[in-house]
Amino acid sequence: MQLLTIAEMFGIMVVGAATMRATISALSFAGKKYQLSRQDRQYITQFQSAASRIYQAEDVEPEETDVPWVGKRRFQVVRREYENSNRDVCSFYLKPHDGRPIPTFRPGQFLTFSVPVPGHDKPEMRCYSLSQSPTEEDFYRVTVKRIDAPENSPAETPPGRSSSYFHDHLQPGALVETYAPAGSFCLDQNSDRPIILIAGGIGITPLLSMLNWLVATGSKREVWLLYGVRNRGEHIMYDALKRLNAHTPNIRLLVAYSQPTEWCQKNIDYHVKGHITAELLRPVLEVRNCEIYLCGPNAMMTSMREGLEALGVPREDIRFESFGQSTPGTKSAAPANGLVESASSFRIEFSRSGKTFSWSPRDGSLLELAIEHNIKARCACRQGVCGTCAVALKEGTVAYERQPENEPAAGTCLPCIAQPQSDLVLDL
Ligand SMILES: Cc1cc2nc3c(=O)[nH]c(=O)nc-3n(C[C@H](O)[C@H](O)[C@H](O)COP(=O)(O)OP(=O)(O)OC[C@H]3O[C@@H](n4cnc5c(N)ncnc54)[C@H](O)[C@@H]3O)c2cc1C
Ligand code: FES
Repeated sequence: MQLLTIAEMFGIMVVGAATMRATISALSFAGKKYQLSRQDRQYITQFQSAASRIYQAEDVEPEETDVPWVGKRRFQVVRREYENSNRDVCSFYLKPHDGRPIPTFRPGQFLTFSVPVPGHDKPEMRCYSLSQSPTEEDFYRVTVKRIDAPENSPAETPPGRSSSYFHDHLQPGALVETYAPAGSFCLDQNSDRPIILIAGGIGITPLLSMLNWLVATGSKREVWLLYGVRNRGEHIMYDALKRLNAHTPNIRLLVAYSQPTEWCQKNIDYHVKGHITAELLRPVLEVRNCEIYLCGPNAMMTSMREGLEALGVPREDIRFESFGQSTPGTKSAAPANGLVESASSFRIEFSRSGKTFSWSPRDGSLLELAIEHNIKARCACRQGVCGTCAVALKEGTVAYERQPENEPAAGTCLPCIAQPQSDLVLDL
């Protein structure tokens, strides 16, 4: 038996791996024939067995799992459907492009999409609430309102970038990338208390998921949905909500139109003229200890929360989510305080990971910098709304690209919308 060189041994291993299941006593490689000793055969058998495990591991489909995926995942639009007679709210049904199962979610959670807005170098991140019941397991549905440019000043305020992209580009067959479901504005699925859902306009989407889940699971909890829109044209899922109201005795619908037109029918399409107010719920709240879920325009949510508290509802019973301000694209428009623009470069220490990097404006937010360098960072909305990314700011100061929805606690910051104003030490 002649000694094998490393190259020959490697060659034999490759041949060995390719002839995985053969019992080998001799090998031909590079025109030479090698008679193998017992010990050689043992080595090769051991290698075969290890290699076969590797090959099997790669061949085997990973287990089906309920664990959310990490990073972005591609979905295909399989269906789209307008949800109001104005045709500016559209549902998009999405199936995973890889054909593998998708994790379930909690009613009220949202997806964060990476939207390739035409004419922009970087994708825009936007959240859209899942509007279906989590019991519908093989697709996700989001319901998106198109944000039009206001009629009086179209030049200064262009149409919404992401919502226009959804409406104009996402036809059946199109692909879109999203992060896994996230968010903590979720229905308490273990409680049996009565529920009040309060929605303004497109803010109904997370509440629809809650409502659909309650119906799908045959819940007997008492539910009131208080829904405010301008008029019938804006009324989302009119037929579905009416059916629910008519056929599900424990669900009651109260609709307010703030600007009904002459073809809006009182007591058929809507019940109350004007804005929704906490006062409308007084009869319910006087005799029941309800959980309240609230989502809509910021002004409505503020007045509702104040009104509900005035009626004696404890603060902890009012859960709410904001879709953010109608934020002018602050990333490409002027930053919140101008300081970020003038920044040249700062030293950012991620103390928990023991890594330090230099930041310059083209790195974007601190969250983007962390992700770019594989630093573990929690996040969900990436818009300064949900607070998931909040982290201790041990040294230095930050500036925000847009006003955070809720001021972060002292000594913390929201890296998803923060840029450094000085060298920083972050607890990441
Ligand atoms: C948790 C969460 C869940 C959400 N769920 C939903 C949902 O289910 N359905 C839904 O429709 N939305 C939802 N949203 C809102 C959604 O994420 C987007 O904010 C919304 O679609 C608007 O994004 P856009 O890119 O279309 O608009 P943007 O491009 O961000 O524009 C928003 C507004 O700013 C104006 N504007 C843009 N650029 C400028 C500029 N340079 N100067 C001045 N004004 C400007 C636009 O005219 C528009 O009025 C959710 C948000 C959050 C945080
Ligand atoms: S990820 Fe939601 S606030 Fe930062």
